Amino acid sequence: MASSLLSITSLSSSPSASVSTEDSFRGRLKLHSSSLSFTKEKINIFSNGKSSGRVSMVVAVNTSRFEGVPMAPADPILGVSEAFKADTNDLKLNLGVGAYRTEELHPYVLEVVKKAENLMLERGENKEYLPIEGLAAFNKATAELLFGADNPVIKEQRVATVQGLSGTGSLRLAAALIERYFPGAKVLISAPTWGNHKNIFNDARVPWSEYRYYDPKTVGLDFEGMIADIEAAPEGSFVLLHGCAHNPTGIDPTPEQWEKIADVIQEKNLIPFFDVAYQGFASGSLDADASSVRLFAARGMEVLIAQSYSKNLGLYSERIGAMNVVCSSADAAARVKSQLKRIARPMYSNPPIHGARIVANVVGDPTLFNEWKAEMEMMAGRIKNVRQKLYDSLSSKDKSGKDWSFVLKQIGMFSFTGLNKAQSDNMTDKWHVYMTKDGRISLAGLSLAKCEYLADAIIDSYHNVN
Ligand SMILES: Cc1ncc(COP(=O)(O)O)c(C=O)c1O
Repeated sequence: MASSLLSITSLSSSPSASVSTEDSFRGRLKLHSSSLSFTKEKINIFSNGKSSGRVSMVVAVNTSRFEGVPMAPADPILGVSEAFKADTNDLKLNLGVGAYRTEELHPYVLEVVKKAENLMLERGENKEYLPIEGLAAFNKATAELLFGADNPVIKEQRVATVQGLSGTGSLRLAAALIERYFPGAKVLISAPTWGNHKNIFNDARVPWSEYRYYDPKTVGLDFEGMIADIEAAPEGSFVLLHGCAHNPTGIDPTPEQWEKIADVIQEKNLIPFFDVAYQGFASGSLDADASSVRLFAARGMEVLIAQSYSKNLGLYSERIGAMNVVCSSADAAARVKSQLKRIARPMYSNPPIHGARIVANVVGDPTLFNEWKAEMEMMAGRIKNVRQKLYDSLSSKDKSGKDWSFVLKQIGMFSFTGLNKAQSDNMTDKWHVYMTKDGRISLAGLSLAKCEYLADAIIDSYHNVN
């Protein structure tokens, strides 16, 4: 915080009698709105003048131009990690952030990522700027991974792909595109959804509203509510869908339900917009997890898809992802791509190269690609194992007859426990289990060894707190 220092000098013989300010300022006083500053720097805290009891004092005046900026609230997801760090209890468990941990609850760097990085080091590649749209080899690899290399949308060059700053940055680019070229169009988002979706559309000044998704009674999908709300959306609205492993609920539509969702979106002339942050991480299969997106593309629909490599390649901090827009013609795709680049240029100029090279190397090399798939199956498998063990522990420990099978029906990193805010607070305050206040836990941060402890915490919170 900036502050100016006013030097006030007294000429009085008695230092304590009075303080006059007339001609004693040593600096030049400049008044610009609320600020005061001095051109000459002379800083003295209550110094006695040399002669005749002169007293100079310096008064700190808070003149920040940022007085009107209030303190922002902590991020509801990232704030959980801060609170976890501050807790000194040995039993503490961080199930807040969706980041994969080993069975020992350590962060994990994929072996295949290390191999790709070694290759990059050996090749001694340079650090020149990338083009605005990113690394060409990455853009090709990422679109092929999403649609399948033989997909007509790729063969017909109908996909506009630009590298983005991971999933978040890619969503933000698309939001800016919507704001610019579809003025007034709103985005429908699921209730609930990943917390950052609302921030992204708010900041891009894109109006949004929610469609029903989660049914607290069944801890499952409110499919009828979802369809009814999508059906009622104004023509030309965008419908944001989670490609797989819905965050925060872990509840995905069945293949038949996806067909019905596509029917409604098509009939009502809406525009599907997928957020694919967990490809391969939900089922362990890259193709199976992309099937929702491929279904829409196969119907000849124009589709927006944001991708992220944070989870499936563990590249959280490399900020690597992509924005893809499937268009009805190659010409439209070229125009859309030119506009995405135009949006990116003043935002961040061009994207970072390191993560893009890792993805391009892994996806582009058949041996590394197979190793990645095996590692992803291992990660997805570990999460499935803790999901099963958590369910077993809940079922055997809870004698109330409550049906906990919803835990097994969910998919991906997360489980929506159905715990309300007070119950989630109890999980943290009493049991040192850190989680978001909507009742979401990240199973990727859970070990088999901690499942029983977690089950005790959930049962206690569920039955003993309202
Ligand atoms: C649904 C969803 N979309 C997008 C993201 C974006 O993540 P990132 O910006 O790290 O790629 C996440 C991360 O948690 C997510 O859960």
